[in-house]
Amino acid sequence: MPLVSTKEMFDVAYREGFAVGAFNMSSLDAVQAITDVAAEEDSPVILQACPVARRYYTMPYVMHLIAAALETHDIVVALNLDHGIDIDNIRDCVDTGYTSVMFDGSALPLEENIRITREIVEYAHPRGVAVEAELGRVGGEEAGLDVSLKEASFTDPAEAAEFVERSGCDSLAVAIGTAHGAYKFAGEPRLDFDRLLEIKKRVDGVPLVLHGASSVAREDVDLCNRFGADLPGAQGVPEEMITRASKMGICKVNINTDLTLAFTAYIRRHFSERPRDLEPRDFCAEGREAMREIVRRKIRVLGSAGKAALVRDRLA
Ligand code: 13P
Repeated sequence: MPLVSTKEMFDVAYREGFAVGAFNMSSLDAVQAITDVAAEEDSPVILQACPVARRYYTMPYVMHLIAAALETHDIVVALNLDHGIDIDNIRDCVDTGYTSVMFDGSALPLEENIRITREIVEYAHPRGVAVEAELGRVGGEEAGLDVSLKEASFTDPAEAAEFVERSGCDSLAVAIGTAHGAYKFAGEPRLDFDRLLEIKKRVDGVPLVLHGASSVAREDVDLCNRFGADLPGAQGVPEEMITRASKMGICKVNINTDLTLAFTAYIRRHFSERPRDLEPRDFCAEGREAMREIVRRKIRVLGSAGKAALVRDRLA
C-alpha cells in the first residue's frame, strides 16, 4: 500500500478512541524498528521528519527509505513534516510526497498563525495533503527549537475553536503541559485534562495532537547515566496519562526522545562492554532492538495494535 493521509487514520482513531504514534525517523535503524513493529502489531504509524532531519538526510534518502519499508511490509503509514516553519519548505514537502505537513505557528500572534495556516491549507488540500497546526506553545527543546518552560503557554479552548474554524486545519496540536525533550516537568508530572476536555468540546470532531509525549523511561535514563551520560532528573509523561489522553480526542502522539534515549543507552553500554568494537552493524543492532521495544510498548499504550485493518477498511 502507498503512503496514506493522516485523515483516514484520524477518522478511525477518533471514532475508536485510540491514538496513532508519530515517530521521528532519526536513522535507517529507526525507520526499520518503527515499520517492522508496525507490521508485527498491525498498527498504523506516522513517520515524521523535522526540517533539520530533512536537510541532514536529504529528501531522496527519506523517500527511498520509506519506499523500502512499504515494499517490505504491508503497513499503513503516513509521512508527516514535523514543526515546519518555512512556507517554501512546507510547499516542497507537499510537492515531494509527504502526506501530512505541520505548520508550527505557535510563536506567532493568533491572526498571523491563522493566516499562514490557511495559506498552507489552501496549497495542501487540493494536493491531497493534510495540515496539522499548533496553538499554544509546547515547551522544551528539539531540533533547533527551544522554548523555555516559562515561555510555554497552554492552549486557550475558545481560541482553539476560532482557530480551527478560520484556518481550516485538519488537526490541532495543543499545549496542555507536555514539553519536548528529556526534561518535561520542574516538579510532579501534571497534564491539564480539564483543558483538554474543554478543547475537545469546543472543536468537536477535530483530531488533536500531543507533542512532547515521551515517557523518558527511568531504566533508560539510568542506563545512559551508568555509561557516561549526564541526564540528572530527566522526566517524561507517565504512560497512564498518555493512554488517558488517547481516549480524549488526542489522535496523534509524538515520540522522539524515547527512541533516541533507548538507542543511545544501549549503544553506550555496548561500547563500555566492548571498547574495541568498530563494527556499526553490531552496535546499531543493539540500538535498533531497543527502539523496537519502545515502539511496541507505545503501540500498546496508545491502543493502536490491530487497528491498521480498520484504516484499510476505511480506505477501501
Ligand atoms: P518528545 O521529545 O517528548 O519525544 O516529543 C517529540 C515531539 O513532540 C516531536 O514533535
